Amino acid sequence: MTGTLDSLSRPLRDLRISVTDRCNLRCPYCMPREVFGRAYTFMAREELLDFEEIARLCRVFAALGVSKVRLTGGEPLLRRDLECLVALVAGVPGIDDIALTTNGTLLAEKAAALRAAGLARVTVSLDALDREAFRAMSDTRVPLARVLAGIDGALAAGLHTVKVNMVVRRGVNDHCVVAMAERFRRRPEILRFIEYMDVGTTNDWRPADVVSAAELHDAINARWPLEPVASARRDEVATRYRYRDGAGEIGFIHSVSAPFCSTCTRARLSSDGRLHTCLFAGQGHDLRALLRGGASDEDLYDAIAAIWTARDDRYSAERAERAARSEPMPSKIEMSYIGG
Ligand code: GTP
Ligand code: 5AD
Ligand code: SF4
Ligand code: SF4
Repeated sequence: MTGTLDSLSRPLRDLRISVTDRCNLRCPYCMPREVFGRAYTFMAREELLDFEEIARLCRVFAALGVSKVRLTGGEPLLRRDLECLVALVAGVPGIDDIALTTNGTLLAEKAAALRAAGLARVTVSLDALDREAFRAMSDTRVPLARVLAGIDGALAAGLHTVKVNMVVRRGVNDHCVVAMAERFRRRPEILRFIEYMDVGTTNDWRPADVVSAAELHDAINARWPLEPVASARRDEVATRYRYRDGAGEIGFIHSVSAPFCSTCTRARLSSDGRLHTCLFAGQGHDLRALLRGGASDEDLYDAIAAIWTARDDRYSAERAERAARSEPMPSKIEMSYIGG
């Protein structure tokens, strides 16, 4: 099945749905407390798509070729009864993979209900095992132990794939990389290191803060030799390796040093129903207005097909080109609004 292609011949396969713009952590690279403090106005409940609206959109997206859905936030487990949404999405014909990206702090309590509702996979963001570095990366008093309990709870509940994502920032948590790898060797979880990206407008990103995937690979490989694992899919964002000594798999997400825009099949839906065709797209397309304005499924299908057909985003690939020409980057959306 080819499905709808965008202007760079990329199909639409993967829908990432943000279910809330709120989070209980304040990672400075995503929701810095100076911006997302007490005075910050989050979305009101009626602005959020309800579960029926999300499920309806999923059915339309599935008809357009989407088979993979990832629920994100903010922190998606702050959305009450999220398992009910999982059950609705799991029932959509054509969606054969549902995953969740979470900070893990509420996962221990929720894992069994999510699993029972049909969630197969979960990815937990965890940037350090060292208490001080964890606090520096997440700016929270929530104890690290809660996240570790969340990861254990996910495995105990039978979620068959548990990934751990670690964003690496130079000078903040790059000294934690080897300890992190050690913790997840010989474990079922798959650890992935993520290059720190210039998402949003608030994190004061500088190229010098990025630790490249090559550098990360070399640090791990020097300690425990690695060998490549073939990608399962063309649109996979992580480069996969396994430890030569049989201690399992590890991945590197090189969105800055080697962008993967040419194979990007991902659409993103914000919690208030805007469709973003790139993680960095400043403008979203208001699907909520269509939904609540009485559009039929055919109208929604045609509107989304038109948006996808016109899509020409390749922000990460352009980043280097623009930097070389000293051109400013276009306006961007916040990561907490659109999910990872
Ligand atoms: P799987 O469904 O398990 O294959 O997930 P995934 O490999 O797509 O990874 P995940 O959703 O956990 O994304 C990991 C990280 O990769 C995100 O937090 C982002 O930092 C980065 N990332 C994912 N998708 C994109 C993308 O479309 N563009 C860019 N620039 N970065 C992305
Ligand atoms: N660069 C890379 N990844 C990021 N994430 C959030 N902000 C950034 C950034 N600036 C990741 C988080 C989490 C997911 C929600 O997005 O680590 O894994
Ligand atoms: Fe919350 Fe995740 Fe953003 Fe951290 S990266 S503030 S956990 S949404
Ligand atoms: Fe896709 Fe945009 Fe990320 Fe490129 S920068 S991989 S187009 S989401």
